[in-house]
Amino acid sequence: MTRKFDFLVIGSGIAGISFALKAAKYGKVALLSKTVLEESNTSYAQGGIASVMYDPDNFEKHIEDTLIAGDGHCDVAAVKKVVYEAPTQINELLNWGVDFDKDENGQFNLHREGGHSENRILHHKDNTGFEIQQSLVRQVKSHPEIEVFENYFAIEILTQHHLGEVVTHHSPDIECYGAYVLNQQSNNIHTFLAKVTLLATGGIGTVYSTTTNPGIATGDGIAMVHRARGIIKDMEFVQFHPTGLYHPGERPTYLISEAIRGYGAVLRTKDGKEFMQKYDERGSLASRDIVARAIDNEMKLHGHDYVYLDVTHKNPKETKEHFPNIYKKCLQLDIDITKDYIPVSPIQHYLCGGVAVDLNGKTSIRRLYAAGECSCTGLHGANRLASNSLIEAIVYADATVKDAVSQLHNIQFNEFVPDWNDEGTRLPEEMVLITQSFREVEQIMSTYVGIVRSNLRLQRAMSRLEILYRETEDLFEKSVVSREICELRNVISVAYLIIKHALRRKESRGLHYTVDYPKRMRNEL
Ligand code: FAD
Ligand code: SIN
Repeated sequence: MTRKFDFLVIGSGIAGISFALKAAKYGKVALLSKTVLEESNTSYAQGGIASVMYDPDNFEKHIEDTLIAGDGHCDVAAVKKVVYEAPTQINELLNWGVDFDKDENGQFNLHREGGHSENRILHHKDNTGFEIQQSLVRQVKSHPEIEVFENYFAIEILTQHHLGEVVTHHSPDIECYGAYVLNQQSNNIHTFLAKVTLLATGGIGTVYSTTTNPGIATGDGIAMVHRARGIIKDMEFVQFHPTGLYHPGERPTYLISEAIRGYGAVLRTKDGKEFMQKYDERGSLASRDIVARAIDNEMKLHGHDYVYLDVTHKNPKETKEHFPNIYKKCLQLDIDITKDYIPVSPIQHYLCGGVAVDLNGKTSIRRLYAAGECSCTGLHGANRLASNSLIEAIVYADATVKDAVSQLHNIQFNEFVPDWNDEGTRLPEEMVLITQSFREVEQIMSTYVGIVRSNLRLQRAMSRLEILYRETEDLFEKSVVSREICELRNVISVAYLIIKHALRRKESRGLHYTVDYPKRMRNEL
């Protein structure tokens, strides 16, 4: 069955929904979510959203902090764009009903996080993302021009390749006509034709065995663009959050927000000693790459599985008020954060790289845009500054709508796209194999492609991954398409890209640290 829309939006987090709400003024929108609208990385965001609001903060300081965190690898134009446009997009969120905490004078209560020189994080308690997601979903549900497709899984973006043409790598002529999409209830595969397609498919956390990301984060958009021969950038820069709650077996790992360090919490070894000053004069509030590596080093030095985060010296009433969800979650594990230290360890959290886009969110494939975590705008460089990703997603979704709308009148639907050819047969042992292969990818990535890397580890990861790649492609050829087999393929592609880009970088920079090239080679700015 073929459906036609002016705009096809793949993903219902902050990037996808904010795009959909704005694009709907100009045409019909299909909004896809592979589970339900509410399940996204956006919903899990805790700390908040960065924007310059009041004196003594200013744009120059936010730009400078972002560039320092990015370790000489940021695109300055992207940084300026996000920082300058942030306040306008915060207003859009307020207009959509998002409720950010205010103080007794009616001013926004601004938190501070690692790497920020000022308080500039707007937040809703310690569950800002949930508040944003709920507000956006409410807007979408009442919108007449947006058709929502929940439990619809995008399998592939449509390009000339599906018309039987040979498409060469990174060719500027590749065009996107929409996507093949699996309806997970009927198991039918639909052709969604669109004048413009937006990828807003989010993160890649499930590539690692421990992550703060929910199970939807399988890097589908990045893998689809890679298969379509589009340009992917900066995949070696995988961000590990310093303070995931140490609670083995829980998936996703519960995050202990960086805002709690901004509020005054300090890191300690298991025997209670502060250690961050040894690594950086900013102490526990240094940027994430530095804090995560320091913790990793301390854990290895002492043979421990975690370190402690200590907030016991702060006013208990205030702590509970600012961080009610963290307080409640820890209490369920018999940790009263007003009295007890919190066991934490670094955990996969975010991907700085992704589908390469320009300042208008355009990818290397015509009629295809990307926004949010699946994209690489250059804002984060080699390491993302805390709370800069929600704001990046909404700023770029806005730019993308503007560009797409200006092109819309020149674009026709491509009516020649054939239906998906699904001739496979479901193999009885398929599910067991898929689950097992998934575990193997996570193991490979966590063991060999973590915070500290080396040529040998990366090569070992690549040779093991190659076996899984061949087995999975073979299984995919023979199987009826399912979300599980597609996600496995995607996760393998993402893992491959991370390893390949990591092997290519002959230096240590930001989040990419390798013992073979421990120094930063050149300044890229
Ligand atoms: P997401 O919100 O992840 O949405 C992805 C969407 O794509 C989902 O709807 C999913 O169903 C859909 N999708 C994916 N693949 C397919 C497919 N094949 N077919 C159909 N649909 C598909 N950032 C901050 O700035 N501040 C914070 O405080 C903060 N805290 C965080 C805390 C946690 C625990 C986590 C996990 C992240 C946090 N981040 C934070 C990062 C931030 O939340 C994400 O980078 C951001 O929300 C990504 O938004 P997105 O719209 O790009 O993708
Ligand atoms: C956090 O609350 O620590 C997460 C902030 C972020 O990832 O930007």
